Amino acid sequence: MAQRVLIAAELKPLLPEPPLPGYHVDWISSRDPTPTGDYVAIVPLLSRTLGVSELDGLPKLRVLAQCAVGYDNIDLQAAADRKIPVTNTPEVLTESTADLTWALILAVARRLKEGQAMLSADSWTGWSPTQLLGLELNGSTLGIVGAGRIGRAVARRGVGFGMRILYSDVHPQPELEETVGAERRSLQELLGASDVVSLHVPSNPGTRGFFDARRFAQLKPGALFINTARGDLVDEGALVQALEEGTVAGAGLDVFSREPEVPRDLVEHPRVVTLPHIGSATVFTRRAMAELAVRNAAEVLAGRPPLTPVSSTGD
Ligand code: 8YV
Repeated sequence: MAQRVLIAAELKPLLPEPPLPGYHVDWISSRDPTPTGDYVAIVPLLSRTLGVSELDGLPKLRVLAQCAVGYDNIDLQAAADRKIPVTNTPEVLTESTADLTWALILAVARRLKEGQAMLSADSWTGWSPTQLLGLELNGSTLGIVGAGRIGRAVARRGVGFGMRILYSDVHPQPELEETVGAERRSLQELLGASDVVSLHVPSNPGTRGFFDARRFAQLKPGALFINTARGDLVDEGALVQALEEGTVAGAGLDVFSREPEVPRDLVEHPRVVTLPHIGSATVFTRRAMAELAVRNAAEVLAGRPPLTPVSSTGD
């Protein structure tokens, strides 16, 4: 009898049929609980929590092939204790996520939500020289917090908009410094000097909640705050407060700490653009992610090393 693998049902339209020749596939929605049984591979989405109790019910599991670059839903220690390799889908989503980050930067800098709301409410009385004045990106400073693949791709695009680029990262990025003239700063210096701050660090026990009231207070007054990384990096209450106080003039958010719940204060705020976690949502990228996740599973099941094992860079 063919061995069984579990693939997120949401990926079915993106994958060839059969996705893993020789294996029996159970397509199970990520909204359903993780079944127990003799599965040899799981290709999950971020929405499936995989910790000790789930892994204990999967004694035959040989690989966890996550379909996402982030893997904060997986207990890496529990997987390591059971010698189950974990893989993710880096690179293929870098450019699409960087594009979406820029969609948010532009929307917030040029106050698109307020402009659209004015027209939707039929309250536009005509052109005015002081109407909806935004931030001139050319000559402004972009602060990249976390210069992994996506952070670097966002920085590269900033050059085209004439921005000065700062970054903070535990690792110096000489190539980024040479190619885009980016300057490395401590986080505190970066926050104090940037007109736009964009978050690109992974979520892990060391970074959760790290953008709190203290960090918001370190921002240059009137800065714009962008998050396309993970919602739980940010204390959302502190962000609302910073918006009220004007420390943050606007925010662009693709991720939230308790998805799919989204704080109404943020959704309804005129200077906050909120999106339903669509950073990597292009046809090309989502297909590439699904295919890479399945190829990782196939490689491990065939006794070969995975193409993209989870690494500590985590971007
Ligand atoms: C995914 C993401 O779309 O890759 C990640 O870490 O956050 C997104 O690209 C989504 O989370 C897929 O599970």
